[in-house]
Amino acid sequence: MKMTFLDLPQMLAASGNVTLPGSKSISNRALLLASLAKGETELRALLDSDDTARMREALAALGVAMAATDTGGLKVTGSGGQFPARRAELFLGNAGTAFRSLTAVLAFAGGEYVLKGVPRMHERPIGDLVVALKACGANIESLEKEGFPPLLLRPAAIRPGSVVKIRGDVSSQFLSGLLMALPLAGVETTVEVEGELISKPYVDMTLNLMARFGVAVERDDWRAFSIPAGACYRSPGVYQVEGDASSASYFLALGAIGATADNPVRVAGVGKNAIQGDVRFADALAAMGATIEAGEDWIAAARPTNGKTLKGIHLDCNHIPDAAMTLALVALFAEGETTLANIASWRVKETDRIAAMAAELRKLNVRVEEGADFLRIVPPDAARPLQPAVIDTYDDHRMAMCFSLASFGAPLRINDPGCVAKTFPDYFDSFGAIARPAPVIAIDGPTASGKGTVSARVAAALGFHYLDSGALYRLVALAAREAGVDWQDEAGVAAIAARLDVVFHADGVRLNGREVGEAIRHEEISSGASKVAAMPAVREALLFRQRAFHRSPGLVGDGRDMGSVVFPEAQLKIFLTASPAVRAERRVKQLLERNEPADLDSIRADLEARDARDRARHIAPLKQEADALLLDTDHIGIDDAVAKALEWFMTGN
Ligand code: DC
Repeated sequence: MKMTFLDLPQMLAASGNVTLPGSKSISNRALLLASLAKGETELRALLDSDDTARMREALAALGVAMAATDTGGLKVTGSGGQFPARRAELFLGNAGTAFRSLTAVLAFAGGEYVLKGVPRMHERPIGDLVVALKACGANIESLEKEGFPPLLLRPAAIRPGSVVKIRGDVSSQFLSGLLMALPLAGVETTVEVEGELISKPYVDMTLNLMARFGVAVERDDWRAFSIPAGACYRSPGVYQVEGDASSASYFLALGAIGATADNPVRVAGVGKNAIQGDVRFADALAAMGATIEAGEDWIAAARPTNGKTLKGIHLDCNHIPDAAMTLALVALFAEGETTLANIASWRVKETDRIAAMAAELRKLNVRVEEGADFLRIVPPDAARPLQPAVIDTYDDHRMAMCFSLASFGAPLRINDPGCVAKTFPDYFDSFGAIARPAPVIAIDGPTASGKGTVSARVAAALGFHYLDSGALYRLVALAAREAGVDWQDEAGVAAIAARLDVVFHADGVRLNGREVGEAIRHEEISSGASKVAAMPAVREALLFRQRAFHRSPGLVGDGRDMGSVVFPEAQLKIFLTASPAVRAERRVKQLLERNEPADLDSIRADLEARDARDRARHIAPLKQEADALLLDTDHIGIDDAVAKALEWFMTGN
């Protein structure tokens, strides 16, 4: 499979409104309870994502009728507790909410069912739930490894009046699944929790949904839960799903990092009375100093006011296990360390999230301390700044969404961004609508058109960074030559391009620790650069290296494909050119100033040959893009060209 990626430039600010997708946790519980209830239920604002698709497919395979309503809802015809299909094999992907709750419910549903998932699902423990279900008389077999999916369920021989014990410190989904299933057993049952119950708000959400569907559970502290005999799910008629509070965390974090109090980031669909525990994430942001406001079904976040900055926190994250991941990224923009404690459950999620978070933060040059159940993050500082990095996402939607926030500190490449489809398929569209990138000016044109000088001066005038992309191709040509790699050897040259050890500094450029500012300007290297630049693998190897220059407060990039390929979103694109005669004259003048031999005719011929090669190549050819403004310097000097470019930028042309 070809790895897809998304490159994010450094972001400067955030503001705006986001309508949240429905809560995954509520959607999957509501789907299940509606399918078990007596009567029809209309579910509104359900999440449409991978995890809910797995649940809907499973319910459809169990014979549950579901149909879209005119108003965009889903009408579920309840089965009254017994699914029409008495046998089924269900594939549940990596959807933990679906797998745990269906295991529990189907254990008492009287049929024969096989439950499977992706390989990672088969590594996520479920033994504690299976043991508890068996204590109630369930008949469950692990098909591969004891205590792990896949599972085979056969009809249970229910034991009345039992007290069931279940561990509460691995996954609260075990308790939630058990509670949702027990009304099907038809007998009075008490569940006792062993060990500390983690993620209590998720259990609270389960109880809340069960109550809406007609089953009141008696709760004794967080230790014991009793389900009365004869409990039975009944449709509430219409059920409105809240916006996803975990998904909200990314946008509230964006606000806390990059929005002003006058122009905050506001999420709609979840508010102060939400039944999802992850709304408490907003309290954690407030504790870090962020400006938070909330209404019935909205929350807004912005940076601290009065010139203050965010402060690191030490937080027991037991109550917000998912949203706590987002805090690890907010910590990068706070003063002082942040410690996220009591997060052992991260290790058995979509991936080992403690290990994954630590590994990827380290790529950004962040100091991280990782423990069995905690993570400590030291924010970057001038001596140890954030650095651009390629971030892996481990098929974990939350890794992808969390790391998008790091783009406020440095440009990033996020691998496999599509994994967000698990809970938030449009995440990066919403992110793009809220986060504002540093501006970029793309200046393309043929060789010796003066674009290098103009670009460097425009960058200096604006205080922006400057990318001389041609220098990178020249450096690759030089490095290949020095390594004895032929310029025609695409794979060999691309490997050199990928490993290129270069430092651009105020007075020049270093390759492998050596000053090469002059060496890369020789005619022979110019010709080599033009050859290696025609190779797709070389261009691909240099793509993120170029985008990594796109930093705050802005960038001017010069080359051939700045506006077309590298920075297609550039605010201003300029095609800077001059006739071959004028360019050849300029080049001759340059050479004579350096006391180098210069023959006008051969220089012009050489320059036209290079232009022709740059124009004719298949990949990223030299051409004026439709949205690029033409700046012809035949009859104007450098000063006027710089002034024109600045005027276009300032007036938003
Ligand atoms: O701009 P320059 O002359 O330093 O560029 C050197 C070579 O690299 C030139 O032959 C074109 C190529 N190049 C490119 O293909 N794409 C860029 N963005 C910049 C330069």
